[in-house]
Amino acid sequence: MEASCVIVGAGRGIGLELAKLLSQTHAVTATSRRPSPALTALDVSHVTGVDICDRASLGAVAARFDSASLDLLIVVAGVLHRDTLGSIDDSQIQVQLDVNALGPVRVVDVFSDRLRDGAKVVVLTSRMGSMADNSSGGYYGYRMSKAALNAAAVSLAHDLSHRKIAVGILHPGYVQTDMTGGNGDLSPAASAQLLVARISELSLVQSGKFFHANGEGLPW
Ligand SMILES: NC(=O)c1ccc[n+]([C@@H]2O[C@H](COP(=O)([O-])OP(=O)(O)OC[C@H]3O[C@@H](n4cnc5c(N)ncnc54)[C@H](OP(=O)(O)O)[C@@H]3O)[C@@H](O)[C@H]2O)c1
Repeated sequence: MEASCVIVGAGRGIGLELAKLLSQTHAVTATSRRPSPALTALDVSHVTGVDICDRASLGAVAARFDSASLDLLIVVAGVLHRDTLGSIDDSQIQVQLDVNALGPVRVVDVFSDRLRDGAKVVVLTSRMGSMADNSSGGYYGYRMSKAALNAAAVSLAHDLSHRKIAVGILHPGYVQTDMTGGNGDLSPAASAQLLVARISELSLVQSGKFFHANGEGLPW
């Protein structure tokens, strides 16, 4: 039987390209918050109206799967706000914490009993969540939320290890998407290709460690 995969946040950007690539090897269920004609056009099962901050909408997707049947769960959804000291908007920081940090934990919590032993969980984080790598400041909510995600993902790796579920903590590179205003070193398709290579080699050895999509280890 074809391996199963759920991608949360696949309506555009890197998630859309991951859905495209993984549909060649997996039975993909891809979710988007808003309608995405590009995602609908793919050979995937597409569920719209899935908000990572809404546990019920995530639960409806999980309910499509039998217990212990899911092979791969990827959380892509994320938001970036350019917070600047002197004009910090608390609500923007809270949204980034909810989507980027709590969101992936919520997803794994909801899907936990759907994952089979030996499955893989992948979260898309950012090197902007690295304190050692922060040489330019700013981006308060984004950096805080991705650092918090990294912390949570290490706990997920510990908590899921007895089920031999590996947790990949991956930075996708600097990618030309809406999030970066189209700037970056990599196209979304090139980033997805690197990410799929990391996902296919992911095992308990790399679980809970922080990697660039190009395979380099990153500092916390
Ligand atoms: N691009 C980069 O250089 C870069 C670098 C490091 C890390 N990342 C991370 O990679 C991931 C993908 O980024 P991207 O560049 O592809 O960004 P993007 O093109 O801006 O896409 C963001 C995706 O997240 C979804 N999303 C946002 N809020 C959501 C919510 N509340 N519930 C469900 N989905 C939500 C969006 O859905 P809608 O279409 O409904 O808004 C969209 O599909 C993010 O986690 C980002 O932080 C990106």
